[in-house]
Amino acid sequence: MESQRASAIAHGDHPIAAPLSDESVRRLLDRAMPDGTGRVLDLGCGQGQWLARALDGRPGLRGTGVDVDAAILEQARQTLAGAGLLERVDLIVSDAKGASFPSPFELVLAVGVAHVFDGLLPTLAAVREHLAPGGAVVVGDGFWERPPAARTLDVGFAADEYEDLATTVDQVTGDGWEPVYGHVSTAAEWDDYEFSWTGTLTRWALDHPDDSESGAALEIATRHRRDYLRGYRGTLGFVTLVLRRSA
Ligand SMILES: C[S@@+](CC[C@H](N)C(=O)[O-])C[C@H]1O[C@@H](n2cnc3c(N)ncnc32)[C@H](O)[C@@H]1O
Repeated sequence: MESQRASAIAHGDHPIAAPLSDESVRRLLDRAMPDGTGRVLDLGCGQGQWLARALDGRPGLRGTGVDVDAAILEQARQTLAGAGLLERVDLIVSDAKGASFPSPFELVLAVGVAHVFDGLLPTLAAVREHLAPGGAVVVGDGFWERPPAARTLDVGFAADEYEDLATTVDQVTGDGWEPVYGHVSTAAEWDDYEFSWTGTLTRWALDHPDDSESGAALEIATRHRRDYLRGYRGTLGFVTLVLRRSA
Protein backbone atom coordinates (compact mmCIF):
# COMPACT_ATOMS: atom_id res chain seq x y z
CA MET A 1 0.00 0.00 0.00
CA GLU A 2 1.40 3.40 -0.93
CA SER A 3 2.18 5.53 2.10
CA GLN A 4 0.05 8.39 0.73
CA ARG A 5 -3.04 6.16 0.60
CA ALA A 6 -2.36 4.77 4.07
CA SER A 7 -1.90 8.30 5.42
CA ALA A 8 -5.10 9.56 3.76
CA ILE A 9 -7.11 6.78 5.41
CA ALA A 10 -5.28 7.09 8.74
CA HIS A 11 -6.06 10.81 9.00
CA GLY A 12 -9.80 10.25 8.48
CA ASP A 13 -10.74 10.95 12.10
CA HIS A 14 -7.91 13.39 12.90
CA PRO A 15 -7.41 15.42 9.73
CA ILE A 16 -4.91 17.83 11.31
CA ALA A 17 -1.72 15.92 10.53
CA ALA A 18 0.00 16.77 13.79
CA PRO A 19 -0.57 16.03 17.51
CA LEU A 20 -2.79 19.05 18.07
CA SER A 21 -6.37 19.17 19.32
CA ASP A 22 -8.98 21.33 17.57
CA GLU A 23 -8.93 23.64 20.60
CA SER A 24 -5.13 24.07 20.33
CA VAL A 25 -5.38 24.85 16.62
CA ARG A 26 -8.11 27.40 17.29
CA ARG A 27 -6.07 29.12 20.02
CA LEU A 28 -2.90 29.22 17.89
CA LEU A 29 -4.81 30.83 15.00
CA ASP A 30 -6.47 33.35 17.31
CA ARG A 31 -3.06 34.40 18.66
CA ALA A 32 -1.57 34.59 15.17
CA MET A 33 -4.40 36.66 13.67
CA PRO A 34 -5.77 39.08 16.23
CA ASP A 35 -7.61 41.11 13.57
CA GLY A 36 -8.44 38.22 11.20
CA THR A 37 -7.90 40.06 7.93
CA GLY A 38 -5.42 39.83 5.05
CA ARG A 39 -4.00 36.73 3.40
CA VAL A 40 -2.81 33.42 4.78
CA LEU A 41 -0.45 30.98 3.06
CA ASP A 42 -0.24 27.33 4.15
CA LEU A 43 2.93 25.57 2.96
CA GLY A 44 2.24 21.81 2.85
CA CYS A 45 -1.44 22.40 3.58
CA GLY A 46 -2.44 18.72 3.45
CA GLN A 47 -6.21 18.32 3.72
CA GLY A 48 -6.67 22.08 4.13
CA GLN A 49 -7.79 21.79 7.73
CA TRP A 50 -5.69 24.72 8.98
CA LEU A 51 -6.98 26.91 6.15
CA ALA A 52 -10.58 25.91 6.87
CA ARG A 53 -10.19 26.79 10.54
CA ALA A 54 -8.38 30.03 9.73
CA LEU A 55 -11.02 31.26 7.26
CA ASP A 56 -14.06 30.11 9.23
CA GLY A 57 -15.52 33.15 11.00
CA ARG A 58 -12.98 35.53 9.42
CA PRO A 59 -14.71 36.82 6.27
CA GLY A 60 -11.93 39.36 5.66
CA LEU A 61 -9.32 36.64 5.20
CA ARG A 62 -8.22 34.94 1.97
CA GLY A 63 -6.11 31.77 1.80
CA THR A 64 -3.60 30.00 -0.41
CA GLY A 65 -2.69 26.36 0.13
CA VAL A 66 0.30 24.64 -1.46
CA ASP A 67 0.90 20.89 -1.42
CA VAL A 68 2.91 18.61 -3.64
CA ASP A 69 0.30 15.85 -3.42
CA ALA A 70 -2.56 16.40 -5.89
CA ALA A 71 -4.78 13.78 -4.23
CA ILE A 72 -4.56 15.40 -0.80
CA LEU A 73 -5.19 18.80 -2.34
CA GLU A 74 -8.38 17.39 -3.86
CA GLN A 75 -9.42 16.43 -0.32
CA ALA A 76 -8.62 20.01 0.73
CA ARG A 77 -10.82 21.29 -2.09
CA GLN A 78 -13.72 19.15 -0.87
CA THR A 79 -13.23 20.20 2.75
CA LEU A 80 -13.19 23.90 1.86
CA ALA A 81 -16.09 23.58 -0.59
CA GLY A 82 -18.14 21.75 2.05
CA ALA A 83 -17.48 24.60 4.48
CA GLY A 84 -18.49 27.22 1.88
CA LEU A 85 -14.96 28.67 1.90
CA LEU A 86 -13.59 27.64 -1.47
CA GLU A 87 -14.21 30.97 -3.20
CA ARG A 88 -11.74 32.59 -0.78
CA VAL A 89 -8.99 29.99 -1.33
CA ASP A 90 -6.42 29.22 -4.02
CA LEU A 91 -5.10 25.66 -3.93
CA ILE A 92 -1.86 25.03 -5.79
CA VAL A 93 -0.23 21.69 -6.55
CA SER A 94 3.44 22.53 -6.25
CA ASP A 95 6.65 21.83 -4.41
CA ALA A 96 6.62 24.34 -1.54
CA LYS A 97 10.38 24.72 -1.93
CA GLY A 98 10.93 27.50 -4.39
CA ALA A 99 7.25 28.42 -4.66
CA SER A 100 6.75 32.11 -5.40
CA PHE A 101 3.77 34.42 -5.16
CA PRO A 102 3.03 37.89 -6.53
CA SER A 103 2.57 39.46 -3.09
CA PRO A 104 3.40 38.55 0.51
CA PHE A 105 1.09 37.14 3.19
CA GLU A 106 0.12 38.44 6.63
CA LEU A 107 0.23 34.88 8.00
CA VAL A 108 2.27 31.88 6.86
CA LEU A 109 1.55 28.39 8.21
CA ALA A 110 4.23 25.69 8.13
CA VAL A 111 3.16 22.87 10.44
CA GLY A 112 4.72 19.43 10.18
CA VAL A 113 6.68 20.32 7.05
CA ALA A 114 10.21 21.01 8.36
CA HIS A 115 11.42 17.79 6.71
CA VAL A 116 10.43 19.31 3.37
CA PHE A 117 12.86 22.19 3.87
CA ASP A 118 15.56 20.12 5.65
CA GLY A 119 15.01 21.54 9.11
CA LEU A 120 13.32 24.19 11.19
CA LEU A 121 15.60 27.14 10.40
CA PRO A 122 15.57 26.49 6.63
CA THR A 123 11.77 26.27 6.91
CA LEU A 124 11.70 29.70 8.55
CA ALA A 125 14.04 31.06 5.89
CA ALA A 126 11.61 29.86 3.21
CA VAL A 127 8.64 31.24 5.13
CA ARG A 128 10.29 34.64 5.41
CA GLU A 129 10.35 34.98 1.62
CA HIS A 130 6.54 35.00 1.67
CA LEU A 131 5.91 37.06 4.80
CA ALA A 132 4.60 40.62 4.74
CA PRO A 133 6.24 43.16 7.09
CA GLY A 134 4.71 42.75 10.54
CA GLY A 135 3.26 39.36 9.58
CA ALA A 136 3.13 36.21 11.72
CA VAL A 137 4.17 32.61 11.26
CA VAL A 138 2.73 29.44 12.77
CA VAL A 139 5.42 26.78 12.62
CA GLY A 140 5.20 23.33 14.18
CA ASP A 141 8.04 20.84 14.53
CA GLY A 142 9.40 18.07 16.70
CA PHE A 143 11.84 18.34 19.60
CA TRP A 144 13.30 15.87 22.07
CA GLU A 145 11.40 15.72 25.36
CA ARG A 146 14.35 13.64 26.57
CA PRO A 147 17.50 12.39 24.87
CA PRO A 148 16.50 9.63 22.47
CA ALA A 149 17.47 6.17 23.69
CA ALA A 150 18.21 3.18 21.48
CA ARG A 151 14.49 2.25 21.39
CA THR A 152 13.75 5.58 19.64
CA LEU A 153 16.69 5.43 17.27
CA ASP A 154 15.76 1.83 16.41
CA VAL A 155 12.45 2.96 14.86
CA GLY A 156 14.17 5.30 12.43
CA PHE A 157 14.93 8.58 14.18
CA ALA A 158 18.39 10.16 14.23
CA ALA A 159 19.67 11.71 17.47
CA ASP A 160 20.63 14.94 15.68
CA GLU A 161 17.22 15.24 14.00
CA TYR A 162 15.92 17.46 16.83
CA GLU A 163 17.12 19.42 19.86
CA ASP A 164 15.52 19.83 23.26
CA LEU A 165 12.77 22.41 23.61
CA ALA A 166 14.91 25.20 25.08
CA THR A 167 17.58 24.78 22.41
CA THR A 168 14.92 24.67 19.69
CA VAL A 169 13.46 27.98 20.88
CA ASP A 170 16.96 29.46 21.30
CA GLN A 171 17.73 28.59 17.69
CA VAL A 172 14.57 30.30 16.53
CA THR A 173 15.14 33.47 18.56
CA GLY A 174 18.81 33.48 17.53
CA ASP A 175 17.58 33.60 13.95
CA GLY A 176 15.72 36.86 14.60
CA TRP A 177 12.23 35.54 15.44
CA GLU A 178 10.16 36.43 18.50
CA PRO A 179 7.71 33.84 19.83
CA VAL A 180 4.44 35.65 20.55
CA TYR A 181 2.82 32.36 21.59
CA GLY A 182 3.68 28.69 21.72
CA HIS A 183 1.99 25.40 22.40
CA VAL A 184 3.69 22.15 23.43
CA SER A 185 1.55 19.16 22.49
CA THR A 186 0.35 17.30 25.56
CA ALA A 187 0.61 13.55 26.14
CA ALA A 188 -3.16 13.38 25.59
CA GLU A 189 -2.85 15.15 22.21
CA TRP A 190 -0.09 12.74 21.19
CA ASP A 191 -2.08 9.66 22.24
CA ASP A 192 -5.23 10.94 20.52
CA TYR A 193 -3.31 11.62 17.31
CA GLU A 194 -1.43 8.33 17.22
CA PHE A 195 -4.36 6.14 18.30
CA SER A 196 -6.55 7.92 15.74
CA TRP A 197 -3.95 7.38 13.02
CA THR A 198 -3.42 3.71 13.75
CA GLY A 199 -6.98 3.02 14.87
CA THR A 200 -8.69 4.51 11.82
CA LEU A 201 -6.39 2.60 9.48
CA THR A 202 -7.00 -0.60 11.46
CA ARG A 203 -10.76 -0.09 11.31
CA TRP A 204 -10.56 0.46 7.55
CA ALA A 205 -8.59 -2.80 7.15
CA LEU A 206 -11.10 -4.76 9.23
CA ASP A 207 -14.03 -3.21 7.36
CA HIS A 208 -12.53 -3.98 3.92
CA PRO A 209 -11.35 -7.60 4.20
CA ASP A 210 -11.79 -8.11 0.44
CA ASP A 211 -9.67 -5.09 -0.54
CA SER A 212 -6.33 -6.25 -1.95
CA GLU A 213 -4.58 -3.75 0.38
CA SER A 214 -6.40 -4.69 3.57
CA GLY A 215 -3.57 -6.86 4.89
CA ALA A 216 -0.94 -4.25 4.09
CA ALA A 217 -3.00 -1.56 5.83
CA LEU A 218 -3.25 -3.66 8.99
CA GLU A 219 0.50 -4.26 8.91
CA ILE A 220 1.25 -0.54 8.52
CA ALA A 221 -1.10 0.36 11.40
CA THR A 222 0.33 -2.35 13.65
CA ARG A 223 3.92 -1.31 12.95
CA HIS A 224 3.17 2.39 13.44
CA ARG A 225 1.40 1.72 16.77
CA ARG A 226 4.30 -0.42 17.97
CA ASP A 227 6.87 2.19 16.88
CA TYR A 228 4.95 4.87 18.78
CA LEU A 229 4.39 2.89 21.98
CA ARG A 230 7.78 1.20 22.11
CA GLY A 231 9.86 3.76 20.23
CA TYR A 232 9.02 7.45 20.60
CA ARG A 233 6.07 7.94 22.99
CA GLY A 234 7.20 10.43 25.65
CA THR A 235 10.52 11.08 23.89
CA LEU A 236 9.46 12.94 20.76
CA GLY A 237 7.71 16.22 21.52
CA PHE A 238 5.96 18.66 19.21
CA VAL A 239 5.99 22.44 19.61
CA THR A 240 3.95 24.92 17.60
CA LEU A 241 5.19 28.50 17.76
CA VAL A 242 3.57 31.75 16.67
CA LEU A 243 6.46 33.93 15.53
CA ARG A 244 7.06 37.44 14.34
CA ARG A 245 10.26 39.15 13.21
CA SER A 246 12.01 41.23 15.82
CA ALA A 247 13.36 43.59 13.19
C1 LIG B 1 2.63 16.10 8.07
S1 LIG B 1 1.68 16.71 6.73
C2 LIG B 1 1.15 18.26 7.42
C3 LIG B 1 -0.10 18.77 6.77
C4 LIG B 1 -0.67 20.04 7.39
N1 LIG B 1 0.31 21.10 7.49
C5 LIG B 1 -1.26 19.75 8.75
O1 LIG B 1 -0.66 20.12 9.77
O2 LIG B 1 -2.34 19.16 8.79
C6 LIG B 1 2.91 17.19 5.55
C7 LIG B 1 2.32 17.69 4.24
O3 LIG B 1 3.39 18.21 3.43
C8 LIG B 1 3.17 17.82 2.08
N2 LIG B 1 4.46 17.88 1.36
C9 LIG B 1 5.48 16.99 1.41
N3 LIG B 1 6.50 17.43 0.62
C10 LIG B 1 6.09 18.61 0.09
C11 LIG B 1 6.69 19.55 -0.81
N4 LIG B 1 7.93 19.34 -1.30
N5 LIG B 1 6.00 20.65 -1.14
C12 LIG B 1 4.75 20.86 -0.67
N6 LIG B 1 4.13 20.01 0.18
C13 LIG B 1 4.79 18.90 0.55
C14 LIG B 1 2.56 16.45 2.19
O4 LIG B 1 1.87 16.09 0.99
C15 LIG B 1 1.65 16.60 3.41
O5 LIG B 1 0.36 17.03 3.02
